[in-house]
Order: sequence, then structure tokens, then C-alpha cells
Amino acid sequence: MRALVYHGPGQKAWEEVPDPEITDDGDVIVQVDATTICGTDLHILKGDVPAVQPGRVLGHEAVGTVWEAGDGVRRLCQGDRVLVSCISGCGSCRYCREARYGQCTEFGGWILGRKINGTQAEFVRVPYADTSTFRIPGGVSDEEALMLADILPTGYEVGVLAGGVRPGDVVAVVGAGPVGLSAITGARLYSPGHIVAIDLSGTRLEAAGQFGADVTVNNSREDALGVIKDLTGRLGADVAIEAAGVPASFELAVKLARPGGRIASIGVHGQAAALHLEEQWARDITITTGLVDTSSTPTLMRLITTGQIDASRFITHHFDLDDIVQAYDVFARAADTKALKVVLTRGE
Ligand SMILES: NC(=O)c1ccc[n+]([C@@H]2O[C@H](COP(=O)([O-])OP(=O)(O)OC[C@H]3O[C@@H](n4cnc5c(N)ncnc54)[C@H](O)[C@@H]3O)[C@@H](O)[C@H]2O)c1
Ligand SMILES: [Zn+2]
Ligand SMILES: [Zn+2]
Repeated sequence: MRALVYHGPGQKAWEEVPDPEITDDGDVIVQVDATTICGTDLHILKGDVPAVQPGRVLGHEAVGTVWEAGDGVRRLCQGDRVLVSCISGCGSCRYCREARYGQCTEFGGWILGRKINGTQAEFVRVPYADTSTFRIPGGVSDEEALMLADILPTGYEVGVLAGGVRPGDVVAVVGAGPVGLSAITGARLYSPGHIVAIDLSGTRLEAAGQFGADVTVNNSREDALGVIKDLTGRLGADVAIEAAGVPASFELAVKLARPGGRIASIGVHGQAAALHLEEQWARDITITTGLVDTSSTPTLMRLITTGQIDASRFITHHFDLDDIVQAYDVFARAADTKALKVVLTRGE
């Protein structure tokens, strides 16, 4: 089969690799019908995620059709249409029993496209298939479901739920890429007072306005802290969500939160970021970090089914899977191309 293979920082190729095989009776092999590229894949290509070794097939998001199921798989059969989640969970370890699948101790968590071969391929082996895939209800398209593989649960769980967004809150979102926009989408479910999107890119801020941010700040030329202070009687944001994954975005999010406020850091960080305790120790702040668990996927799937979340609005570009290298280029130049999510589909 063909797959997108990581060959070390800055290097990747769409090339022929061996077909995946079932190695555990809980595995399925999924034929990939649709996959996409994540900001995290760009971090990997920058060398920010050293766990990813050269030779690895990238990708942790897919919708596909079960091609083959191991003997221990109970819920899935050949031909089933499934969402392959970015997180695999054994379902029985201490963390999985608490629905913290991201922390699974039995070689689950974020393994696809990181520790084992991923979804940017014609076929993918999915371990713990019963507890790591979701059936897709009729009426939900492949590409809508694909937005549930990572970005929507990430913005919702690691941003909105971890940040404890409540009605009336002023929510600042630093970084308005697909994950930040997912956090905005999730925050809107709670009727916040204001959603302030902060990004260095005008095109991303335009998108944030369309997704429901009522204030947008370009922090390459505007003072984000000043805007938030003006909006909150000098206090600061109730919740600051960081969705960019660079030291500057984390350090800004900490500054934006009011005393007693909450900072939810979503970004994948490859470098140290400073926490100025000499400024923060008396401010009663709460900082959370996290890998998505995808425990909210069934809830978000229902919200898509009932039309409360429009997942299709994230999709800006379509490509054939064979053109994935070109898709990476378009996705990496988002400020010029206005790319949010690029969908890659299998040719007939
Ligand atoms: N914690 C998790 O489980 C998890 C899951 C998925 C993605 N992520 C991470 O979430 C982050 C966002 O993902 P994405 O796909 O939206 O990425 P993206 O690269 O498409 O978007 C990041 C946005 O942040 C903006 N940005 C960069 N520096 C900034 C700064 N100093 N101030 C304000 N804005 C800034 C960029 O202009 C861009 O619009 C990434 O770090 C990604 O790796 C984390
Ligand atoms: Zn991702
Ligand atoms: Zn587990």
C-alpha cells in the first residue's frame, strides 16, 4: 500500500510500504476512506515530537471501512463504517476505567502516527478496536465525522471542559487554528459573555469571527492584554485557552486570565515555556494541560447529528489521498491558503 512516511525533521514522502497486519486479536485493519492533517503533524515534522521515529507512517485521524477484524473484536465486522479516533484505549486499565483513554497504560493513548503507523495511508491497523473506534450514524458524512477524530474533542475536553467554561464567562482563545476554532465551537455551547480570539494571522481571525468569536485581536500588532482588560473592567478573562503550542502563546494565556481564573493549555509544546511565579503566585490561578481523551466523542457526535455543531465548516480543501504531499503544503501555508482542515479521500 501507499502511505505518508516521516523520514526525520522536515522530510516526508508518499511511498510504498508493507500492508498492515493484525498482530493482536483486538485489532482491526481499516481501509481509509478519508483522513486529514493535524497541526501536530506539523510539530512532528519540525522535530518537536521526538517519540516519532523516522520510518513512521503519520496521521491520527480517519474515517474508514473495516477490512478485517481480529478474532477478539466483538463490536465490529468487515464492512462497518467507523471513525478511527486519535486516541486508542484498552478499556480496562486504571486510566481507561476513568475514561482517561489518553493516559492508557497498556500501550494505548496517542499511538497512531506516533508510536505505531498511522492513518495517512491506504490501510491502518487500529489496536483495541472495540474501544478505539466509533460507529458513524446515518446522516453524518465521512468528512463531518472526521472532525471528531481529534480537533472537536480536543478543543472541547482540553480547552472548554478543563477550563471550566461557564455561562457569562469571558473566554480568551489564543491560537485560532482548527483546534482553537473547536474550542470556540465548544465554548459557545455554554453561552459565554464574550469569546475573544487572538492570533497572529488575519485569515485565522476572520475564521474565528465566523465560528462565533465576537472580538478578534491580531497580537502581531494589537495589545491582547489591553483588549481583555478593557472588556472585563481591568480584571482579565475568566478562562484563557491556549491553542497554538509555542512558548509565547502559553505565556500570553497566563497573563490574560483574571485572578481566580483558569488557563487551559492545549498546545503541543516542543520547547520550555516560562511560568512567572513571581507574578502569578498570589493570583489564585488554575493551569491545566492535557492530551485529549476522546471521551466526549459520543456527545459531540450527537451534537453534530442534531445540528448544534456544524462540523463541515472546518473543511476548506479536498484532495485525493495520492496528493497528500501537496495537501501538506497547502495546510502548512494556512495564512496564505486559508486552510483549516484539508480532507484527503481515497480514489475509487
Ligand atoms: N493536547 C492535545 O491533545 C492536542 C490535540 C491536537 C492538537 N494539539 C495542538 O493544538 C495546537 C493547535 O492545533 P491546530 O491544528 O489548531 O494548529 P495550527 O498550527 O493550525 O494553529 C495554531 C494557530 O496559532 C497561531 N499562533 C501561533 N503563535 C501564536 C501566538 N504567539 N499568539 C497567537 N496565536 C499564535 C497560528 O497563527 C495558528 O493560527 C497545536 O500545538 C497542536 O499540536 C493538541
Ligand atoms: Zn492531532
Ligand atoms: Zn487503558
